[in-house]
Amino acid sequence: MLENAKAMLEKAKIEKYAVPHFNINNLEWAKYILETCAYQRSPVILGVSEGASKYMGGYNTVVGLVKGLIKDLQISIPVCLHIDHGSSFDTCKKAIDAGFTSVMIDASKYSLEENIKITNEVVSYAKENNVTVEAEIGHIGGSEDELSSDIAYAKTDDIIKLVNETKVDFVAPALGSVHGLYKGEPKLDFDRMLEISKKVNIPLVLHGGTGIYDEQIKKAISCGICKININTDLQIVWSEAVRKFLDNDKKVYDPRKVICAGESAMKEKIKEKIILFGSNNKY
Ligand code: 13P
Repeated sequence: MLENAKAMLEKAKIEKYAVPHFNINNLEWAKYILETCAYQRSPVILGVSEGASKYMGGYNTVVGLVKGLIKDLQISIPVCLHIDHGSSFDTCKKAIDAGFTSVMIDASKYSLEENIKITNEVVSYAKENNVTVEAEIGHIGGSEDELSSDIAYAKTDDIIKLVNETKVDFVAPALGSVHGLYKGEPKLDFDRMLEISKKVNIPLVLHGGTGIYDEQIKKAISCGICKININTDLQIVWSEAVRKFLDNDKKVYDPRKVICAGESAMKEKIKEKIILFGSNNKY
């Protein structure tokens, strides 16, 4: 069932586990994720970046694809379709109008006041449409950047202000994680994570889930993280399996065989994350 992220994240917060957010890139990604989460009885958030949405044809195509899969595969776990790092009100509005059930407005590159202003515009439109909203504050680094120079840890007071003044449903405070592979050790500020969680009392989101050690993931969940975003991990296992398959068979040309060569590796990784996050057997 396609729904917003409110109930699934509230349940995760109370029962102390994290709902997996997996980024999708195409039909197969969505299918493998839905099938594995349904088998594990885990709720799931399908994250779609602006780039991935464009790649798939646009917001309407993505909504149609996901709704079609849910119906044809008879998926009965809660599924949320979420814009990942929406860069403007316009992006979020287009996604909401197409049928996305949740959006992230990432106005973290602006001043706090500007971030609050843009986030408020999105929240107001989203609420009218029963859509949940995630905001970001601080700066989550990228794999191409140097760890020390790129990450800006979110300040507790700024987060409290943003949450109080916007009434977002969940928030992603930058606390040391990066998107993609880490150069060196992930350094997450767990003390601040716990402090923020206690003070804002809404579900917290951890971006850059790839490369964070299992023990750190568990600690993050105990400090209030209720949604963990995974993208690169699935891309790596899929491409490794497909590369191996093509190396071993120089004559294959059926695209279904090529793409499906990564299916079991992806499903294995998805299952591993669900079990690590503790979201299995919840529905
Ligand atoms: P990774 O690519 O590091 O798994 O991060 C995904 C993410 O945070 C998407 O928003």
